[in-house]
Amino acid sequence: MNSTDRFAVHARILHWVMAIMILAMLFIGAGMVSTASRAYPDLLAWHRPIGIAVLALALVRLGVRMTHRPPSLPADLPVLQRAMASAMHLALYTLMLAMPLIGWAMLSAAGTPVVLWPGTVLPPILAHDVRMFGWLRRLHRLAGYAFFLLILGHLGAALVHALIRRDSVFQSMARFGNRSMRG
Ligand code: HEM
Ligand code: HEM
Repeated sequence: MNSTDRFAVHARILHWVMAIMILAMLFIGAGMVSTASRAYPDLLAWHRPIGIAVLALALVRLGVRMTHRPPSLPADLPVLQRAMASAMHLALYTLMLAMPLIGWAMLSAAGTPVVLWPGTVLPPILAHDVRMFGWLRRLHRLAGYAFFLLILGHLGAALVHALIRRDSVFQSMARFGNRSMRG
């Protein structure tokens, strides 16, 4: 496997760091709304800055994606699977950007300051509007669960490549060393 068979090293690092952050965010979010205890404000205090960091990294990642050609998929991969991979990746990128923006807009509409850490507050991106807050809150929940399902589908596809097709796709994102896996 040579370097053109793999995603650029910064794309690989961003992929795995963001995968951990996004999975953590989904669990923090779900844990947060299912508790009425002191844990709610504490979890939200983590949820806001990690979510905004996901937004910033997603913008960097989009830049990396547009300036570095991804490795080509195996030539024998059926057209339908290629189309599904592109659609899934597009949806994952959309949610990486949309989830934090919806969260930020939701708190803006609620009139709640978006505190990243003590002393650092983001400006509101929407005017105070309680009905809009209710609407965005439902959207944040719906998009969150769609994100969960997409990631499960993505994980399933990655495992099909790694364990069943045994082609170069999984290695293109997961391999960091120089040693060849073939043979
Ligand atoms: C990758 C980014 C994000 C992910 C994956 C994510 C995910 C989630 C999930 C799964 C929930 C639980 C939804 C429910 O069941 O009702 C949630 C709740 C929430 N999120 Fe996020 N979120 C993200 C970013 C943000 C950001 C950037 C903010 C604000 C700056 C934010 C603010 C909130 C708030 C306030 C709630 C609680 C809403 C309530 O009490 O009903 N989120 N989030
Ligand atoms: C948890 C959140 C995750 C997100 C948001 C995510 C997102 C993405 C995106 C957008 C791509 C396309 C790369 C690009 O074109 O820039 C990608 C590729 C890839 N991901 Fe993930 N990923 C996640 C987790 C995982 C996990 C858990 C695995 C495997 C265990 C995985 C394995 C792969 C592989 C093998 C590729 C390259 C495959 C290809 O090009 O079709 N990802 N991921």
